[in-house]
Amino acid sequence: MEKKRVFSGIQPTGQIHLGNYLGAVKNWVDSQDEYENIFCVVNSHAITTTQNPKELREKTYELAGMLLACGIDMKKSNLFIQSEIDEHPALAWVFDCNISMGEMSRMTQFKDKSLKNPKNVNVGLFNYPVLMAADILLYQADGVPVGEDQKQHLELARNIAQRFNRDFGECFKIPEPMIPKIGARVMGLDEPANKMSKSFNGANHAIFLLDTPDEIMRKFKKATTDSQNSIVFDQKRAGLYNLLNIYEIFTHKDRRKIEDEFEGKGYGVFKTMVAEVVIEALRPIREKYEKLRSQKGYIEEVLNEGANKVRPIAKATYKKAKEFVGLV
Ligand code: TRP
Repeated sequence: MEKKRVFSGIQPTGQIHLGNYLGAVKNWVDSQDEYENIFCVVNSHAITTTQNPKELREKTYELAGMLLACGIDMKKSNLFIQSEIDEHPALAWVFDCNISMGEMSRMTQFKDKSLKNPKNVNVGLFNYPVLMAADILLYQADGVPVGEDQKQHLELARNIAQRFNRDFGECFKIPEPMIPKIGARVMGLDEPANKMSKSFNGANHAIFLLDTPDEIMRKFKKATTDSQNSIVFDQKRAGLYNLLNIYEIFTHKDRRKIEDEFEGKGYGVFKTMVAEVVIEALRPIREKYEKLRSQKGYIEEVLNEGANKVRPIAKATYKKAKEFVGLV
């Protein structure tokens, strides 16, 4: 049986943190035998907000390097940079001419983003979901893993594809949303009521995969807990629960065993033990990342190969779409 093709786009903004890793990246790594994965670093989407060019370039390679260090294996999966394949904006243009302002105006993320940053409400930001639809549809993806915030965008991509197929001819596969396997929902260490996020900037909010062991230890020691003294899995004690959850994921121990282990221990010892487990789990990732980055040109080469591998798929789809609309 043919493997399902799954397309994921990741913006090269901010650093990968523990929440991204346990909530998404680790699932991708673990699913490499099950699916034909295409991972795309969506740098063209990133310029819908103001970027420093040098930093954007740096972050693009950093993200690609991190994904490789986390275990994305180019023998099984594809990884490439969006801007290396010209068919993405080209197909987006064809879609632009077949979508109404009204439908686009209903995109809630555009409204949120433009309210947050009223000084830079550019046309690209408005058009963001169409470029995203082109990303997905160019590769005839069967599925796209989407969190809550991207559901509307995927729905738009499906509508664009269905309408195109109906009006011009069968050209695109209709992608299905893939609900991420539940498991890891990592909360901010400083405010455990909120999901760990790139956009919170408290110094102790997130553990980044490239944090040094000292930084990781410091952040865990400062993690918000409560003033009770039993260490047990209790959802109502959000800070403690989050730390226990992280410990559980990395040690694969069952909850009873973990509670036994910490019986009679104080928060100080507990936090240190959680930090140590995380430090050891992230160490090989950080070391591999540093090794990859030290080999000059290596990541660029991998990404080039990745683009060369998927380009024929994009070209074939775009050629078909062009023919259907009469551009050739
Ligand atoms: N909009 C997505 C996000 O912010 C990133 C993205 C761009 C994407 N193109 C995509 C995700 C295609 C999935 C498929 O997370």
